[in-house]
Amino acid sequence: MKIIVVDNYNEMSKKAANIIASCIVLKPNSVLGLATGSTPLGVYKELIKLYENSDVDFSNVCTFNLDEYYGITKDNDQSYSYYMKENFFKHVNLKEENTHIPDGTCKNVDTMCQSYEDIIKQHGGIDVQILGIGQNGHIGFNEPDDKFVADTHLVKLKEDTVNANSRFFETIEDVPKEAVSMGIKAIMKAKKIILIANGINKAEAIYKTIKEDVTPEVPASILQFHSDVTVIVDKEAASKL
Ligand code: PGA
Repeated sequence: MKIIVVDNYNEMSKKAANIIASCIVLKPNSVLGLATGSTPLGVYKELIKLYENSDVDFSNVCTFNLDEYYGITKDNDQSYSYYMKENFFKHVNLKEENTHIPDGTCKNVDTMCQSYEDIIKQHGGIDVQILGIGQNGHIGFNEPDDKFVADTHLVKLKEDTVNANSRFFETIEDVPKEAVSMGIKAIMKAKKIILIANGINKAEAIYKTIKEDVTPEVPASILQFHSDVTVIVDKEAASKL
């Protein structure tokens, strides 16, 4: 793992965006794995700036998001589809048909999960995957467990994840309790992974991910087995390293 410690959130966002942009310059039809949450917002802002300055062109880029809440529709302003549209997609020249997000309303979840993985494969796999990390060490919505879940699947969210995400909702009852998440195998198959984290509340998870044993109790720790991971963290998130 390559660890880059930066001064602040803006620097973290710029570094991650520059790596993604350089991948796209080298391979204009890059396949990006995208994440939601508060951490990657700055990365999307930086990518939008690079696009506006004509430094990067998304016209042949294809994207796959890590996860989506289950049981809410695309146009719900809490859905990750809505988040991606508002924070990134509508500001750049990505083609709508090239953007993919798990369907959070699908009745036959298993079939949808399988076909999500098949479509990623048909596109040649993910070239660069951006990941945030939960305070409990989750990546995507792969929650701490006694085993790693390989395949894309329906997840019951842990109480601490529901609590952490409740800041985006009016009441905790409104937070969806299930989500569809790309599994560990699909994440680990990405050719390049960028893990970003900022703030003191991520310090423990970052420490366990990088310094302790690989365990499904800290899903991000599996990244130690990947050959091309860059961790970009601000000083606070790096404070226990
Ligand atoms: P956050 O979430 O970026 O909102 O902190 C990260 C995650 O839960 O993966």
